[in-house]
Parts: sequence; structure tokens; C-alpha cells
Amino acid sequence: MSQAPPRTVLEIDQLCVKFGGLVAISSMSFHVDHGEIVSLIGPNGAGKTTAFNAITGYLQPSSGEARFLDKSLNGLKPNQIAELGVVRTFQKTSLFGGNTAFENIMIALHRQGRQELFGSLLRLPNMHAEERRLRDRADEILEFFGIAARRDELASAMPYGEQRLLEVAIGLATEPEVLLLDEPASGMNPTETMSFVRMVERIREQDITILLVEHDMRMVMGVSDRVVVLNQGEIIASGPPSEIKHDPEVVRAYLGTSAPHA
Ligand SMILES: Nc1ncnc2c1ncn2[C@@H]1O[C@H](COP(=O)(O)OP(=O)(O)O)[C@@H](O)[C@H]1O
Ligand SMILES: [Mg+2]
Repeated sequence: MSQAPPRTVLEIDQLCVKFGGLVAISSMSFHVDHGEIVSLIGPNGAGKTTAFNAITGYLQPSSGEARFLDKSLNGLKPNQIAELGVVRTFQKTSLFGGNTAFENIMIALHRQGRQELFGSLLRLPNMHAEERRLRDRADEILEFFGIAARRDELASAMPYGEQRLLEVAIGLATEPEVLLLDEPASGMNPTETMSFVRMVERIREQDITILLVEHDMRMVMGVSDRVVVLNQGEIIASGPPSEIKHDPEVVRAYLGTSAPHA
């Protein structure tokens, strides 16, 4: 393990998003350091998905900006941001249901490798080697996520929890620096959620920084280095789970009367 000081990979700087008269996000600032797992939590409608959309180019902030390694992401398109290494998954499923699990990952790998692949087309003998490399990588990812047995099943026919895993697998296939996961465990049963927590930790071990939006508080409190709490578009608290769990304002606004167990 390197002992280098923490390096901020994602900096959210006074980000504001308005929809007409509705202020969905109001002057939001926080950062995510290299190798951290930071969770963004808050009640429905707090602005979590909107924040992801503004960070990843799916909508332009009204003011403020998100920066990746000091580079402003304002004005960039989602694919440009993904190419930089900031990759997100969606709250609602975005799989190609009519394709197999393997094909879904291959599609992501091909997208990512477009330029590389073009280069290899010019050197024909390499093309097969490159294609074989991508196929091996796709199989490796299916293995990593424990869904290799579903390789040739249609994504739409997979159990829901495994569809969610496949979505994260697709995100990981593009070899991101930062992975933004929008409620990846929604619809998973408790067993699936527990193994997903281990998965998130293993993703981090691959040197990938994670920003997580998740409703399952056991998962959030168990896996996060820091938690940022959003309420009605404003950050009301941030800190390590041990502090957040007992923050009176957080408990009142979000967690309800009883704090969750870690
Ligand atoms: N495209 C949009 N147009 C108008 N209002 C939106 C749009 N997207 C989200 N909102 C509103 O912004 C607020 C935050 O929504 P969202 O970011 O989806 O919350 P969360 O993900 O925390 O549940 C909500 O009031 C929602 O209705
Ligand atoms: Mg949401």
C-alpha cells in the first residue's frame, strides 16, 4: 500500500441545479479522495440522482461545477466524462435485455476500446488478439461478480439482484477511476446485499474510488469511509459512519427515531 497523502479525485464545488423554480441542489460541496468509498444518502427527492446527473454530464449545473483531478467537467458530454474515468450506473436498469450477460459486457468493452480497436483494425493480425483479450476480460468480470453461470442468459431473464450486479459489472468493465453507483442494491435480498458489500470492497481494492447512493443503511454504514447526508438539496451533515449515525439532525431528517445498526 502506498503511503502517499490522499489525492482528491472528485471535487464537487458549490454545485447548484434548478428545474424551473425548483432548487434540486443548492450549493453542494464535497470531495472524494482516491480509494475512498463515500456514500451520498438522503430521503427520496433529496437530489442524489440529480447530483449524479450533474457530475456525469447528463445535465448541466445551474452554477458551480464538479472537477475530476482538477479538471472541470462542466460542458462535457456523458461519454467524454466516462472516457476520462468517471463512470456511473443508473438507478433504473439500463441493460440490453435482449442481449446475454456476456454480450452486455462486450458492448461496454467495445465502446471503451473504440479507438484502440480502430488502431488494431489497421493491423489486422492484431484484431483477433484484441477481440480475444476483450472476451477474456468479459469472462473475468462475470467471474469476479459471481455471475459466470449466467454468461449466456438474456439479461432480462436473470434474477433481478443479478441484473443489478451485471450493471455494476458493466461499469467496472470500462475501467473507471471513479465509479458512481446509484442505488445498486435496490431490489436485492439481504443475502445478495451482503455479498454485494464484499463486492464493493473488492472493487475498491482494485484502486477504484466509489461514490455510492444507497438506501440500505446497513450497507452504507458498513462499507463507507465517509457519508454525506443530503436533505432537500442541501448537505446537512458529513463524516464517518460512526458520527453520522448519531448526528441528531440526520436522525431527525432522515434516519427516523432509531439509528441503524452497523
Ligand atoms: N428532470 C427533472 N425535471 C424536473 N424536476 C426534477 C428532474 N429530476 C429530478 N427532479 C426533482 O428534483 C428533486 C430531486 O430528485 P432526485 O435527484 O431524483 O432525488 P433522489 O435521487 O435523491 O431521490 C425532486 O424534487 C425531483 O422531483
Ligand atoms: Mg435517486
